[in-house]
Amino acid sequence: MKSNLFISEQELDAQRRIASQLYREIEPRGLTFFVETFGCQMNVRDSETIKGWLIDIGYAETDDKTSADLILFNTCCVRDHAEKRLMGNIGALKELKDNHPGMIIGICGCMMQQEGMAKKLLKRFPHVSLIFGTNVLHRLPEMIRRVMDGERIAVTDRANDAIAEGLPKLRDNPRSAFVNIMYGCDNFCSYCIVPYVRGRERSRRPEDVRSEVCSLVESGISEITLLGQNVNSYGNDGSTGMHFADLLRYISDVPGLKRIRFMSSHPKDLSEDVMHAIAELPNVCHHVHLPVQSGNSEILKRMNRKYTREHYLSIIENLRSLVPDIEFTTDIIVGFPGETEEAFRDTMSLVDEAGFAAAFTFAYSPRQGTVAAKMEDQIPEAIKKRRLSELNELQARKTVENNRKYIGYSGEVLVEGFDTRGTETMLYGKYQNFKMVYFSGQPELMNQYVNVRVTGINKNSLIGEIIDA
Ligand code: 5AD
Ligand code: SF4
Repeated sequence: MKSNLFISEQELDAQRRIASQLYREIEPRGLTFFVETFGCQMNVRDSETIKGWLIDIGYAETDDKTSADLILFNTCCVRDHAEKRLMGNIGALKELKDNHPGMIIGICGCMMQQEGMAKKLLKRFPHVSLIFGTNVLHRLPEMIRRVMDGERIAVTDRANDAIAEGLPKLRDNPRSAFVNIMYGCDNFCSYCIVPYVRGRERSRRPEDVRSEVCSLVESGISEITLLGQNVNSYGNDGSTGMHFADLLRYISDVPGLKRIRFMSSHPKDLSEDVMHAIAELPNVCHHVHLPVQSGNSEILKRMNRKYTREHYLSIIENLRSLVPDIEFTTDIIVGFPGETEEAFRDTMSLVDEAGFAAAFTFAYSPRQGTVAAKMEDQIPEAIKKRRLSELNELQARKTVENNRKYIGYSGEVLVEGFDTRGTETMLYGKYQNFKMVYFSGQPELMNQYVNVRVTGINKNSLIGEIIDA
């Protein structure tokens, strides 16, 4: 059932009051926090809210884990090994805690939403005192209060799908920001754990999204990335009165907003209306992250992806004809249960045909509780590994091939970093279609837009020169 309720203002006010009480206790003591984030942009965005709260509670951020008074791991459970790594990380903190008894060690994020996980961790690690899931971020002040008072708690409310607006955020990138437009996922791709841990799909109100974008732009940000597990199904439940293309139009005229990015897009929901919005709106970037997962229609069916190879390729073709300089990136899984050599060849030929600018490639890993984990004909690890390296080799060649077409191209780049290790300072940044370019220039150009002409290529990026600053 779609609840699409919001956390009430009264509840948020109560949390804010606890935060300001805590502030009076914590700030004078000079306590610090360290948050380590694993996984995708959703988690990065959640960590901004967690850090925002911790600042409001009186902590200061530190990048030195060993001296922090509060250490928090924001975890991910989408692919394997994360659990093992986390256990190692947490285990290693025991000694630190022994030497610093007042330290609070906490774990949060999607992994904590997995059935039984929170309890298991509390039992296994007596030095951990705070565990919470992704749906209760608005209650962090109350949780910190309880832990400061000596409790050990696990707060994971899987059923709570309500959206909390107006939570604090600590964003440290002055040019670019993530903005959630929806939470959760209803697609139940058969390999994926996200719908089980992040809950049902719910969309934010368009006016809340727009007002967040306006205040970001006022603070100097010119590039935003709209986030959702599947942004193309924004408003599909009828709760917002708008679909994704309408939302793009609705925020595109925010004065000073130079670039709108968005991710991820599910191919089954990428409508013609969205294609036209990308083509027509001047600040919507010409880049679509469009996870294909497999190039074989039979495997796509078993993955419950609800599109065929042909449909996927037709989206690429249609978008390219509407928007000639558009670039695509993708996610691909190899070794899904039942993937024959022939099916894998279909993925290889799709990659050859589609011409992705880049691909994030994964060996299938069974996630407990998902449909695919119970499928027969699981693929041996050695075969997955071999397919993954064949695929990576092909994509590496395709990336270089794609890069070559940029020689001589020029356009506006948003400078996002610099490297002073070589003989001259190299700046780097992206064209609006997500292509990364390196060029020599002064660090003062950080966070600014400069025109750059491409003069050469690297394996994964372009080399260029400033044509005017
Ligand atoms: N095994 C391997 N890769 C997975 N992904 C999601 N679940 C799994 C899994 N069980 C990949 C998909 C998705 C990306 C975020 O992670 O490609 O698009
Ligand atoms: Fe997972 Fe599929 Fe939802 Fe993406 S669309 S989060 S792969 S279930």
